[in-house]
Amino acid sequence: MAYIATKKYIENKIKIELEETEKEIIKEQTREKIVRLQELDKQKSEFTSMITHELKTPLGPIFGYCEVLTHPKFRNKMTDEQLDMVKKIENSAKTLQILIDDLLLIQKLVLGKITIKNEKFTLKKFIQEIIELQNNIIKEKNIKMQFNVDDITLNSDKLRLGEIINNLINNSIDFVSENTGLIEINAHKDGDKVKISIKDNGIGIKKEDQSSLFTEFYQVDTTLRRKHGGTGLGLAICKRLTELLGGQIWVESEVGKFTKMTFTVLVDNNRINENNF
Ligand SMILES: Nc1ncnc2c1ncn2[C@@H]1O[C@H](COP(=O)(O)OP(=O)(O)OP(=O)(O)O)[C@@H](O)[C@H]1O
Ligand SMILES: [Mg+2]
Repeated sequence: MAYIATKKYIENKIKIELEETEKEIIKEQTREKIVRLQELDKQKSEFTSMITHELKTPLGPIFGYCEVLTHPKFRNKMTDEQLDMVKKIENSAKTLQILIDDLLLIQKLVLGKITIKNEKFTLKKFIQEIIELQNNIIKEKNIKMQFNVDDITLNSDKLRLGEIINNLINNSIDFVSENTGLIEINAHKDGDKVKISIKDNGIGIKKEDQSSLFTEFYQVDTTLRRKHGGTGLGLAICKRLTELLGGQIWVESEVGKFTKMTFTVLVDNNRINENNF
C-alpha cells in the first residue's frame, strides 16, 4: 500500500511540475510574441512615417509652380478657364498636404515622438484668434458663433491646443446647416484643468457610432463622408493630444439636434511632470 501511495504521490508531483513547466513555456512564448508584435508595430509606424514624409517632397514644386502661374506676369496670359484649373491644382495639393500632415502627426503621436512645449497665454484671446482664421467659411455659411470663455491664463502647448480646437470647430462647421448653424464655445476652469466644449446644432451622431469616433479613420456614413471629405483622423488626433496635455475628450450628441465635444487639459503643463514622478 505504501508503495502505491508513494508511486501516486510521485506521479502527481510529476504531473503538477509538468503542467507548471508547460505554463511557464507558454508564458515565455507569449511574452516573446508580444515583444515581437510590438517591434513589428513600431517598424510599421516608422515605415509609414518615412513614406508619408517622402510624399511631402513632390508637393513643394506643385505649390511653387502654382504660385508662379498665378503671378501677374503669367496670370494675364491665361484664360479664366486656365486660371481656374491652376487654382484647382493648388486646392487639391492643399488637401493632400493636410492629409499628409495629419498622417505624420498621428504616427508621431503613436510613436511617442511629440514633445510638449510650455507657453503662457490667455485662452480667450487664443480662441478668438482661431475663430478669426475661420471667419471666411463662417461668414460664407452664415453660421452664428457664441462664446463663453473664462479669462484664464494657461501654461500649455499653444500649437497642440490650437490643433484640438481647430479640428473640433472644423467638424462643427462641416456638420451644421447654412444660415441656421449655431456653434457655442464654452471654456471654464475645473480644478487644475480647463474644460472646453464646442457644441453645434448640426446633424448629430448616433449612439452606436459615438464610441468609435476617436479611432483612426472612423467616419460615420459614406454618403455624408463623400460630401464632407476628410479622412477620419481629426478626432483620433484630438484624443491623443488631449491625453498628452493631461486631459480627456468625450462626446454627447443627439441625432438631428446637437453634438457637443468636451475636452479637458491641464491649466499648467508643469503638473504633467509632477504627476509622472
Ligand atoms: N460635430 C459633428 N457633428 C456630426 N458628426 C460629427 C461631428 N464631429 C465628428 N463627426 C463624425 O465623426 C467622424 C470623424 O470625425 P473626424 O474629425 O475624426 O474625421 P473627419 O472630420 O471625417 O476627417 P478629418 O478630421 O481627418 O478631416 C466624422 O466623419 C463625422 O462622421
Ligand atoms: Mg474632422
